[in-house]
Amino acid sequence: MSTGPSVRPLGKSPVTIGPLSLGCWPLAGMTRDGVTREDAVATVAAAIDAGITHLDTAYCYGEEGESERAIAVAIHGRREAVVLAGKCGIHWEPGRRQCVDGRPERISHEVEESLRRLGTDHFDLLYLHAPDPTVPIEESAAALRDVLEAGKARAIGGSNMTVEQLDRFASVCPLAACQMPYNMLQRGIEDAILPWCRSHDVAMVVYWPLMKGLLAGRMERGQVFPPSDSRHKYPMFKGIEFERNLDFVAALQPVAARLGCNLPALVLAWTAEQPGITSVLFGATTPAQVAENARGLAVSLDDRARGDIRAAINARGPVAGRRAV
Ligand SMILES: NC(=O)c1ccc[n+]([C@@H]2O[C@H](COP(=O)([O-])OP(=O)(O)OC[C@H]3O[C@@H](n4cnc5c(N)ncnc54)[C@H](OP(=O)(O)O)[C@@H]3O)[C@@H](O)[C@H]2O)c1
Repeated sequence: MSTGPSVRPLGKSPVTIGPLSLGCWPLAGMTRDGVTREDAVATVAAAIDAGITHLDTAYCYGEEGESERAIAVAIHGRREAVVLAGKCGIHWEPGRRQCVDGRPERISHEVEESLRRLGTDHFDLLYLHAPDPTVPIEESAAALRDVLEAGKARAIGGSNMTVEQLDRFASVCPLAACQMPYNMLQRGIEDAILPWCRSHDVAMVVYWPLMKGLLAGRMERGQVFPPSDSRHKYPMFKGIEFERNLDFVAALQPVAARLGCNLPALVLAWTAEQPGITSVLFGATTPAQVAENARGLAVSLDDRARGDIRAAINARGPVAGRRAV
């Protein structure tokens, strides 16, 4: 469990987490070439050393659970120092075909396999990764309730759900957390999902805070992402959309400079202070990125910075590829 002045409760569960957390998807080596097992282990270790102790992974982060296996190495001997979140309900079929499968027997299989890969006997938080459209969500929720009651998870969450799905899930299984995409330019959850979570005392843990790296401020005009980099398929990294996003990043740079911080730290600090946001999951592929991002824990925004950021968001306008769920 996280301790310290800035810990935040995960809904009504006994679990607490900090405002910044490490997302371990890029460590699986599937988002781009060149992320090694050594990088992955060192990145997780750097996060823990920097006080970022909530680690977010999933059964499908890597065709063979590469993310979970790297975490196992990094947390060996210090399992109690971390808050370990996993997800189940998505796996890979041969040929890298992603398969959503929320049947209870599949969930039970993935939970056992993930715990084995992670070298632990329990998750601190376990999410249904996404609803399976072919399985009533109550059936998947009942399987996760069984995991909770068996002591193999201390809290249960739901990810990529609509309000209606959250309602149905929570009618069967105690729901402590919801995980959705959210960043300065993609704020669809503010319409309905975030208010639902706040009114039901469900924690909101958000992903893509750096817009897959764009808001870290290191991308260049004209940059082309190769087919092996998963960013090549998103509209936010193409053509005029990409240019406008880079203009937005340029507008944030003076705000960070005035506050004396780096850009990802500013972006993460802003995201973590939005009303109803419990924790912000940033991905990273190196200890150096973790060190930069962890500085977000120490950034204090002032009203001038908030106003400048609001103006930049308004000037940017709606982005392509925005999605609420
Ligand atoms: N529930 C879901 O369905 C779902 C979906 C997506 C993600 N997630 C979770 O949320 C986490 C965060 O999402 P994400 O990792 O996809 O996106 P993100 O946090 O917006 O971006 C992560 C990427 O940004 C780049 N980056 C990070 N720090 C940087 C720095 N200081 N300087 C330069 N570049 C930097 C890295 O890319 P490179 O090093 O490769 O350039 C890194 O892989 C995931 O890791 C995962 O745990 C959950």
